[in-house]
Amino acid sequence: MSTKPYGVNELREMFLSFFESKGHLRLPSFSLIPQNDASLLLINSGMAPMKPYFTGEVEPPRHRVCTCQKCIRTGDIENIGKTARHGTYFEMLGNFSFGDYFKREAIHWSWEFLTEVVGLDKDRLYPSIYVDDDEAFDIWNKEVGVPADRIFRFGKEDNFWEHGSGPCGPCSEIYYDRGEKYGCGKPGCTVGCDCDRYMEVWNNVFSQFNNDGQGNYTELAHKNIDTGMGLERTICVLTGKKTVYETDAFTDILAKIAELSGKEYGADEETTKAFRIIADHMRTSTFILGDDRGVSPSNTDQGYILRRLIRRAVRYGMQLGMPDGFTCEIAKVIINQYRNAYPELERNAAFVIDQLTLEEGRFARTLKQGNKEFDKVASRAADGKIDGETAFHLYDTYGFPIEMTVELAKERNLTVDTAGFEEAFRKHQELSHQGAEQKFKGGLADTSEETARLHTATHLLHAALRKVLGDEVAQKGSNITAERLRFDFSFGRKVTKDELAQVE
Ligand code: SER
Repeated sequence: MSTKPYGVNELREMFLSFFESKGHLRLPSFSLIPQNDASLLLINSGMAPMKPYFTGEVEPPRHRVCTCQKCIRTGDIENIGKTARHGTYFEMLGNFSFGDYFKREAIHWSWEFLTEVVGLDKDRLYPSIYVDDDEAFDIWNKEVGVPADRIFRFGKEDNFWEHGSGPCGPCSEIYYDRGEKYGCGKPGCTVGCDCDRYMEVWNNVFSQFNNDGQGNYTELAHKNIDTGMGLERTICVLTGKKTVYETDAFTDILAKIAELSGKEYGADEETTKAFRIIADHMRTSTFILGDDRGVSPSNTDQGYILRRLIRRAVRYGMQLGMPDGFTCEIAKVIINQYRNAYPELERNAAFVIDQLTLEEGRFARTLKQGNKEFDKVASRAADGKIDGETAFHLYDTYGFPIEMTVELAKERNLTVDTAGFEEAFRKHQELSHQGAEQKFKGGLADTSEETARLHTATHLLHAALRKVLGDEVAQKGSNITAERLRFDFSFGRKVTKDELAQVE
């Protein structure tokens, strides 16, 4: 185990300059909000924003690039705070080849970086390969010199990278054995076990197929390399910390939570879990809001993920007795910590703070009452099940995201009729659409020339918004008097100043 005093900033720089020395062009992180990719809501890996370079659709600035990409994965949200390695936001370091080098160089460089540059003990590292990838096996075994019994062969579920549609392929991961004390102790616990002993730190993907999204694979015109090294995980392994939350990525954030709550991180299991959830969710929310294509909390798509994260953080914040406005205080720490690596956070700081203030306030106002209501609901839940209408009531009246109701229910061994919730949700939407159509149809009682002009102006404004922002812009209402017009619309993210100027 290396004891070099690295932090996330040093490791990020070491990775990027190592690959620059191998002829790669360093690019800044792409936005977290995917562009022209309907298969993903949020960027989840270094390769995701570069799909057109892999397919050859767009010519890359160079055929070798390296990045540190902002990534979000919320699929494992239930594991946050419980395991050593899960977080919804993380930074992924990656080196990429678009029809340039392939397996040999990728494998050799991953090993060189981990063992020689970072200094990890090679006797604790275990590569895995796709089950029938004998070419990768030979490189690991005959060229790198890893003994055959330390190379693990896994099937498609573990060793074939694909997410959404697009470029994909078999992969070769590298695991680090952190030692028995981190293991689950179950018989058969080895590389690939779900516990925290063998931590995957690197993934070399041999990206050579295109998945059309329907499960049809075709060979890409050229073969590519897509690698990923989780920054926080690698620092965790490297510094011998128990979990990613003990690394310097979280030091300042946890200290702020302690200061605001007067509680101590590590005091007991529940407190620790709450600290980690707040820290993780606030980091993710700050990065979503602080993106140049930042979105606002809403009930759809990225906005819903954001809303869910902020509300979950607020709920755990209340559990710790955090003061009002705590989300902004934590966001300020995060912006300060990351402002050099991600200057967009500082550019968008005012938006981050505004949106957090609004969302925390909206939710906090109803949360106490909502919790009381939930207690009542739970105590009268027939057959241990909360019905869909009730779950919808908690959502509609108290702002409880359905996932939160499910989570609270689980804590009390109850289940929720989520299909019933969807049905109630759909019914409610139909009714409110019908309502929105009375309100505005023929609402022009005043037919003076000014009013008529402003009425025409709303149509022009709507058309201009659609022209600049796209068809996603939906009118939510308008109100016209002789002096002015008001036009309400929904759109998935913040409209930039430039866009507004264009609309005007
Ligand atoms: N796309 C792969 C992953 O995310 C390697 O970067 O693991």
